Amino acid sequence: MSSPEEQAFRLLTEYSNGFMVSQVLFAACELGVFDLLAEAPEPLGAAAVAARLGTSSHGTELLLDTCVSLKLLQVETKTGKALYQNTELSSTYLVRASPKCQGNMLRYLARTTYLCWGHLTQAVRDGRNQYLEAFGVPSDQLFSAIYRSEDERLLFMRGLQDVWSVSGRPVLGAFDLSPFPLICDVGGDFFKDPLPEADLYLLARVLHDWTDERCSRLLARIRRACKPGGGVLVIESLLAADGRGPLTAQLYSLNMLVQTEGRERTPAQYRALLAAAGFRHVQCRRTGGLYDAILATR
Ligand SMILES: C[S@@+](CC[C@H](N)C(=O)[O-])C[C@H]1O[C@@H](n2cnc3c(N)ncnc32)[C@H](O)[C@@H]1O
Repeated sequence: MSSPEEQAFRLLTEYSNGFMVSQVLFAACELGVFDLLAEAPEPLGAAAVAARLGTSSHGTELLLDTCVSLKLLQVETKTGKALYQNTELSSTYLVRASPKCQGNMLRYLARTTYLCWGHLTQAVRDGRNQYLEAFGVPSDQLFSAIYRSEDERLLFMRGLQDVWSVSGRPVLGAFDLSPFPLICDVGGDFFKDPLPEADLYLLARVLHDWTDERCSRLLARIRRACKPGGGVLVIESLLAADGRGPLTAQLYSLNMLVQTEGRERTPAQYRALLAAAGFRHVQCRRTGGLYDAILATR
């Protein structure tokens, strides 16, 4: 039995090494470890993986064995030789050919989000995103405000699609949407472009990018476009009523701080924004997954 002090130190070490775990995952994805093992007809040794990926034998062996400890790979020893293959987790979420592959999102997190998080301390000091510090570019000079290039924007959109392939169904099932035969998934330049006619406007992972003032402007536009009985379905990660959890929503809110103008919000904060825009009936549903649903009708 370890003492409370030892347990606390173990937890501290786990937290401080957390970024190393992310990097092992990112590197294995970026190098194509999981795709190679999925495509190989049988489990491969470290030397074969290194030869096919063009990587060092020492680095590859370390990476593969660390992936085993993280349950991203499994290993069996046959006649003294370690042979690696994917686990169920990696076969489902890390192999390109899987319909639930999260590879684009992991690449975006590795290439963009991770760099912004390197400036979290300063983001907390300044209360604003760190694009200038992370990329040397003020956000008003970036492509579409938050992307460095069209390639980065496309990678992010594909990443969002990856997450949606796993998390979309629970949020769309949170409410009976049968009273809304025509649904518009709001995207593009929704602050300027006219909104198409619809019974329900879907605002998925949009409001968390923006300040309260910009959210109010967008919700007021949607409210004006709504027919009687029409509404808006907001999909976001809800914070607890006091803002102190769940941890994933808190981390996403910090992510909004380092990457955008926005934040994650509590149900009461969404209710206030929606009510101010003229929506009279507002219902919040937690799904237990990454995203929750808020249905507001006029
Ligand atoms: C985080 S994405 C969410 C996309 C989609 N609803 C989903 O859940 O996958 C943000 C959306 O805001 C739109 N948008 C409008 N103005 C933007 C801006 N200045 N910067 C970034 N995104 C912007 C993008 O076109 C994109 O559709």
